Amino acid sequence: MTAENSAANPALSNLLHEERHFDPPASLAANANVTADAYQQASDDRLAFWEEQARRLSWSQPWDTVLEWDAPFAKWFNGGKLNVAYNCVDRHVEAGHGDQVAIHWEGEPGDTRTITYSDLLAEVSKAANALTELGVETGDRVMIYMPMIPEAAIAMLACARLGAPHSVVFGGFSADSLRNRIDDASAKVMITSDGGYRRGAPSALKPAVDEALEGTGVEKVLVVRRTGQDVPWTEGRDVWWHDVVDSQPAEHTPEFFDAEHPLFILYTSGTTAKPKGILHTTGGYLTQASYTHHAVFDLKPDTDVYWCTADIGWVTGHSYIVYGPLSNRSTQVMYEGTPDTPHKGRFWELIEKYKVSILYTAPTAIRSFMKWGDDLPAKFDLSTLRVLGSVGEPINPEAWMWYREHIGGGNCPVVDTWWQTETGAIMISPLPGVTSTKPGSAQVALPGIAADIVDDQGKPVPDGGGGYLVLTEPWPAMLRGIWGDPERYQDTYWSRFADEGYYFAGDGAKKDNDGDLWLLGRVDDVMNVSGHRISTTEVESALVSHPKVAEAAVVGATDPTTGQGIVAFVILRGADEGGDGEALVKELRNHVAKEIGPIAKPRQILLVPELPKTRSGKIMRRLLRDVAENRSMGDVTTLADPTVMNLISSGITSGKSED
Ligand code: PRX
Repeated sequence: MTAENSAANPALSNLLHEERHFDPPASLAANANVTADAYQQASDDRLAFWEEQARRLSWSQPWDTVLEWDAPFAKWFNGGKLNVAYNCVDRHVEAGHGDQVAIHWEGEPGDTRTITYSDLLAEVSKAANALTELGVETGDRVMIYMPMIPEAAIAMLACARLGAPHSVVFGGFSADSLRNRIDDASAKVMITSDGGYRRGAPSALKPAVDEALEGTGVEKVLVVRRTGQDVPWTEGRDVWWHDVVDSQPAEHTPEFFDAEHPLFILYTSGTTAKPKGILHTTGGYLTQASYTHHAVFDLKPDTDVYWCTADIGWVTGHSYIVYGPLSNRSTQVMYEGTPDTPHKGRFWELIEKYKVSILYTAPTAIRSFMKWGDDLPAKFDLSTLRVLGSVGEPINPEAWMWYREHIGGGNCPVVDTWWQTETGAIMISPLPGVTSTKPGSAQVALPGIAADIVDDQGKPVPDGGGGYLVLTEPWPAMLRGIWGDPERYQDTYWSRFADEGYYFAGDGAKKDNDGDLWLLGRVDDVMNVSGHRISTTEVESALVSHPKVAEAAVVGATDPTTGQGIVAFVILRGADEGGDGEALVKELRNHVAKEIGPIAKPRQILLVPELPKTRSGKIMRRLLRDVAENRSMGDVTTLADPTVMNLISSGITSGKSED
């Protein structure tokens, strides 16, 4: 695995030679929320440490036990009761912070909304009352398919307030993807909008919802008017947000739920075509989301302005736009659109405008900014920034240095945060007031988290070695399972190192000579494209669902901007061989976008006469990656037919197609 991984990403073989490191700025270190003692405290008594973090929240009833661990099923803070929305909103208003801005929202066209904690309380209460009127009860699943508008966060909090688990689906997913998730979650209500603004134009959402809902059990659709575009309407099922939410009373008495009550289901790609519904619960999740946000970003609620650029449809939006920051009483920026609209300096303009002090973004965005040029950020005043975060994929040292120099002015710690949808919250990251940071390394597990790198046999590798990243102890925000599929939960995460009882993250990693961790990307058939997880199998099934495709194999090839790019090798059905390659490639790319969503559109589709297979019929993706990355071919001796690779190289009839 390790050799293959570094071969796939040549920059990685240089990682262990990285000698640069940067100490925390003295003033930050002197006032840091979390200091080096936390590591000691957590290692002295891990469970007592997490109890202390749980006490940062407001509970209506204390827990009986910190952790009940019937591997791999955990209960954290069992017996305790709390309400997540109360913790994120009401308690701040009760403490006299009602006038503090919770959200500075900026629409892509430049329209703005300022939402204080009092406003947020009123809006969440109204939305909770409206959902109740629409028939939502504790335990019912509510789908959310929305652009980046405040109602997205309000809807999530309203669901949390009612104990109705939400399942947010990224607005870029297709109707089919949405339908699969609605069915899997057996959702009762859908919250959406007419559309949102993207790249300077209204982009519709409601038509996809209508298509997705056919034949599902969804009874009501609550629709926010954002763009004003015409929408298809089903009387009796569809209701406007402004009709049913705005007229509700602005008071709502929250009920307190068990710590293990389901909070949300979030679908993510696995190694099969069927996405996994990752289940998170209430008390442990909020404890870790809140604590890590406080520790890793050093947020000071009275002075900081925080901005996480993720979409609410991904776990980063859940934990570091909604639950972490709001539980910590942050003032934050929320932005609807893309970073290049109406100009490529939009992010920097927003940082200057709102005096953002903490920025959390993704390596793929940073690499795009690098490409667009140093002069763009240089035009804006970014001097308010004091902490920079990165998430979603390995950040190469060049991008890390550029971020530090050109955005952080050379004096902001860069925290590279490793975690997953499944972990719920950050697991491995520097602490900005403690760690001497190294460009490209996520470094060490946070206090209270136990991670290691092991070899094939589950034995920890020594410093300087590489292997698989594992989590060796349960953690509060861990997934509680895969919705409706306990067996898959066990198989996917807990069977690889069953004897040791370790959680297998699916990532390769190295330990440098100081014992710091360097993430090397996925070791399974999951790609990471612009920080988004997409399974090779999912794209393959989308391709073979096209009538002209006989067989397809998909690999993630190194891409300078998106981290990995999707490259598909496709064998056509006999009759279509020799057709118009270019038009067909375009058709296939659009077909994948329609089946899964534009994020899954292959960068490149190669029409080939054969695929390399082992004697047992398994496709050798390693060899296809060699082709996709224009490398000389690796070992072909295990192929059933070793000549097939020549056939592929000479028989490729169509190449790259961009749009
Ligand atoms: O491969 C790792 C990569 O993203 C995967 C998790 O993807 P997802 O569940 O969509 O969550 C993304 C946001 C938390 C991981 O298995 N990944 C995430 N953060 C990093 C990373 N790889 C390297 N460095 C990171 N900081």
